[in-house]
Amino acid sequence: MKPNIVILTGAGISQESGIPTFRDSNGLWENHDIMEVASPEGWERNPELVLKFYNLRRKQLKDVQPNEAHKAITKLQEHFPVQVITQNVDDLHERAGNKNVLHLHGELYKVRSEKNPDLIYEWHDDLHIGDLAEDGAQLRPHIVWFGEPVPMITKAAELTANADIFIIVGTSMLVYPAAGLVGYLRSDVQVYYIDPNAKEINIPNPLTVIREKAGTGLPRLVDKLIEQA
Ligand code: APR
Repeated sequence: MKPNIVILTGAGISQESGIPTFRDSNGLWENHDIMEVASPEGWERNPELVLKFYNLRRKQLKDVQPNEAHKAITKLQEHFPVQVITQNVDDLHERAGNKNVLHLHGELYKVRSEKNPDLIYEWHDDLHIGDLAEDGAQLRPHIVWFGEPVPMITKAAELTANADIFIIVGTSMLVYPAAGLVGYLRSDVQVYYIDPNAKEINIPNPLTVIREKAGTGLPRLVDKLIEQA
């Protein structure tokens, strides 16, 4: 049986596509205090600003392309069952052809009712005050903000528990519950961690840290895994 490969990605995998990471920029996200644009309190205080911020992020997404790291995952899935768990809200995994992608923190191209988290819609253009869901409530970005529950974490934990190989790419492993997923791995599962600034992670598993950019480190690891298969 072929090993089941699970890949946890963060902002670093999209960095070479031109999307800035979060914590490399002094706690500012595109010149905004993160709490201003990514918290329920920020939304309550200034919904116009929050909508404008995500409208810009959605526009920016149209100008960027998947990079060699996203493409390497497409190659890997031709040889192994592969599941991606991403903290990213961009769609670069999908556009590169990655098939099984779970978005832990939501998606830029989706919006939802402010009142009912299950009323979710595809949305590729600007979102404005007055754009309403079927229940009459204001639509908001389908993004998990700080302090909000992460509904997809249960599914992500299940997927992680079934991994035979676990690859972490471009995440500071600072934000929970995502960073806690490694705790669900069987202890014999080989873990690879690709990140130029990778810190130690405290797990009993065999761990190989690759301090390289995703666009070079991941294609090389993918070739190695395919060769060994
Ligand atoms: N290749 C690989 N890794 C990179 C690259 C690159 N080219 N460039 C930067 N990195 C690494 C950084 O070294 C850092 O460890 O990517 C990581 C990015 O970390 P963060 O900015 O903390 O992003 P992430 O871990 O995805 O943040 C998690 O926090 O702000 C919230 O909800 C948001 O999903 C996000 C979550």
